[in-house]
Amino acid sequence: MSETSQCATRFTVNAKAVVVEGHPMARLLDVLRECLHLTGAKEGCGEGECGACAVLVNGEVVNSCLVPVAQMEGAEIITIEGIAATPRGQQLQQSFIDFGGAQCGICTPGMIIAAANLLDRHPTPSNEQLREGLSGNLCRCTGYTKIFEAVMAASSNAAVPGKTR
Ligand code: FES
Ligand code: FES
Repeated sequence: MSETSQCATRFTVNAKAVVVEGHPMARLLDVLRECLHLTGAKEGCGEGECGACAVLVNGEVVNSCLVPVAQMEGAEIITIEGIAATPRGQQLQQSFIDFGGAQCGICTPGMIIAAANLLDRHPTPSNEQLREGLSGNLCRCTGYTKIFEAVMAASSNAAVPGKTR
């Protein structure tokens, strides 16, 4: 990282300002994992289909394997490491554990990113909203039912403070 390169891109990651130097077409996923050592975002398909690499960019779920870092100038990026530090992220992680929503774990960071974004928009989502909110995330292991249960439980807990499973 440098503050002087003509190829430098400036943005924030988990509320921390960063300056990344390198090829402007480098994938955001690679910059996060290899330059910034934020390895929570995973590479699944590498083609924008699975959501394993999802991060929030200016509040929107984005597949970081598709995004050139140069497009991130001035952006606010939240990774799973940032989400995991929030009460909602911690609640979702515990709910995934409680309901068996994670098996191999490759899809889990992206699922939790999408779920946190969904619950921000719909604190008590309908089944349709739940499925639509997670429709960009593929899971080869769980059959989805346990993931849907985990997110619904987290939404109920968010709406009813103190409620546990
Ligand atoms: Fe990015 Fe699959 S690795 S969408
Ligand atoms: Fe393995 Fe979802 S837990 S892909």
